[in-house]
Amino acid sequence: MAFLVFVLLVSQCSALTSQQCHHCEQTSCDCSSQNLREVPAAASKLITELDLSLNALETIMKDDFLSYAALRALFKLDLSSNQNIDIVWFYRVPELSFMQNMLTVVRRASVINSKVFVIPCQSTIHFTNLEFLDISDNTVADRAFMEMMCYGKEDVLLNLHTLNISRNRLFLINSKLFTRLEKLENLDMSRNSFDSMPSTCSWPASLKFLNLSSTSLPEVTSCLPQSLQILDLSRNKLTVFSIELPLLKELYISGNKLGNLPDGHLYVSLAVLSIQDNNLAKFSSKNLHDYQSLRVLEAAGNPYVCSCDFVGFVTNDLMNHKTVVRHDLKSYICDSPDAVRGERVSDVKLSVFECHTALAISLLCLGILVLCVLIAGLCYKFSVVWYMKMTWAWLKAKRKPKLKKGVLQYDAFVSYSEMDSGWVEAHLIPALEQSEPPLRLCLHKRDFVPGGWIVDNIMDAIEKSHRTLFVLSQNFVRSEWCKYELDYTHFRLFDQNDDAVVLILLEPIDKNNIPKKFIRLRKVMNSRTYLEWPDDEDQIPAFWQSLRTAIETPEIDDTNNL
Ligand SMILES: *[C@@H]1O[C@H](CO)[C@@H](O)[C@H](O)[C@H]1NC(C)=O
Ligand SMILES: *[C@@H]1O[C@H](CO)[C@@H](O)[C@H](O)[C@H]1NC(C)=O
Repeated sequence: MAFLVFVLLVSQCSALTSQQCHHCEQTSCDCSSQNLREVPAAASKLITELDLSLNALETIMKDDFLSYAALRALFKLDLSSNQNIDIVWFYRVPELSFMQNMLTVVRRASVINSKVFVIPCQSTIHFTNLEFLDISDNTVADRAFMEMMCYGKEDVLLNLHTLNISRNRLFLINSKLFTRLEKLENLDMSRNSFDSMPSTCSWPASLKFLNLSSTSLPEVTSCLPQSLQILDLSRNKLTVFSIELPLLKELYISGNKLGNLPDGHLYVSLAVLSIQDNNLAKFSSKNLHDYQSLRVLEAAGNPYVCSCDFVGFVTNDLMNHKTVVRHDLKSYICDSPDAVRGERVSDVKLSVFECHTALAISLLCLGILVLCVLIAGLCYKFSVVWYMKMTWAWLKAKRKPKLKKGVLQYDAFVSYSEMDSGWVEAHLIPALEQSEPPLRLCLHKRDFVPGGWIVDNIMDAIEKSHRTLFVLSQNFVRSEWCKYELDYTHFRLFDQNDDAVVLILLEPIDKNNIPKKFIRLRKVMNSRTYLEWPDDEDQIPAFWQSLRTAIETPEIDDTNNL
């Protein structure tokens, strides 16, 4: 609803007799919202303030102000409609010169939301005592404003300390218009559309309060007056704010796009900082300490990244900080990481892993390393690799189709330690291969495919042989090479439970010396008779005979029994 506020502070005494004013004190009368159609008569000579706002004044007659002091000739005044006051017309009517006397004594004038679009220089010249002028919420544009301020050239409005031109149609920040106003302290230019700010300006040194909120500014420059104590830049499009203002006490900069707290060193006097609804991801104890005088901080509504540092800072340090956080911490909400989005920063609990990632990963790696070393150690200790290889070989052997007896290539595969090769070559080979009928022996030195994996070779040899002869000696037990074939045969023994194994004992072996992994060899030695190489020369032929018999005895074959 549009209305006319016309507050007059008349310095001289008047008489007001109206009952239409609902509240009259000694020097002031409040006649607002009375649906008045005409100016009421003065109730007392002492009246210096008359509020006629929110009425329906249409016509003001010549005599209407007669009862008020200093008003002489009054001609017909037609305001036609209270909602459409054209001040140009209003003041340019020559008959209105009567107003001049009145205007010179007015100290506060408010013409809010009255569709005022211009007040000409000739009129403002008369406002010599005006201290407070509020023409907010009208349609004053740049040119009209320049006209009103007499283009900054004449000494007008010299007593003005507050000017409110909020919510008009200004597009330019024209500081020259104010340069001469040496008493101007408060300037409210909010809710205009400035879009940009000149790089330098010349403001009166008295300016302490500047309101530039909701003016679409994308950046600020050193145009900002150094004398400012209160600055409102809320609801603009600022991404940085780094203009040094040493006297600034209150900064309102909410509703912008700032990604960081402004540098505290630039605002040594700042006591109140309102920076809500920006793009702050975090701030730290150090940021706050940079402000020497900060007492109040409002920083809710930002998309905080709830890192461990930030959460820790908010839940511990901030509580005990000299800066008081307004609206308490409930309105500080996490925006990321996803897991805690929407939660209050002060409620978030982060795990140790999230908070000490580097340490956690290091420990994990260390753990894995230790485990690997441990496993490797265990493998070495218990010959796991060897067992695995053996299992693999055994599995392969199991899957291979068994050769029929007819195709067996050898009568016996001889497994012996390298150190016993002298005995094998000198005694065993001649005794078995060169006798009648000759036995075919498989000897690793002679018959193995060169280059093949030893276990494969052994497996192959055992497969192709009717019997496996083990030449057991201390050497044999100690020899690594032998372990393989021995154990492979273990598997076979265990698997087939046949009597393909013939043991020859070259020298007595303490069974307790046999390594534990040859547990089956021990069993075999316990359960089976073995041929002992005799010390006595006379018994040698008998030994060969027994051996030959052992090798030639047909195997007990289940398939043959069917
Ligand atoms: C200026 O006018 C606006 C709108 O009428 C009001 O919100 C604001 O508080 C006024 N500013 C000053 C400094 O009086
Ligand atoms: C600045 O102006 C806006 C809009 O007119 C108003 O809401 C705000 O309170 C003013 N700021 C200060 C600090 O008075």
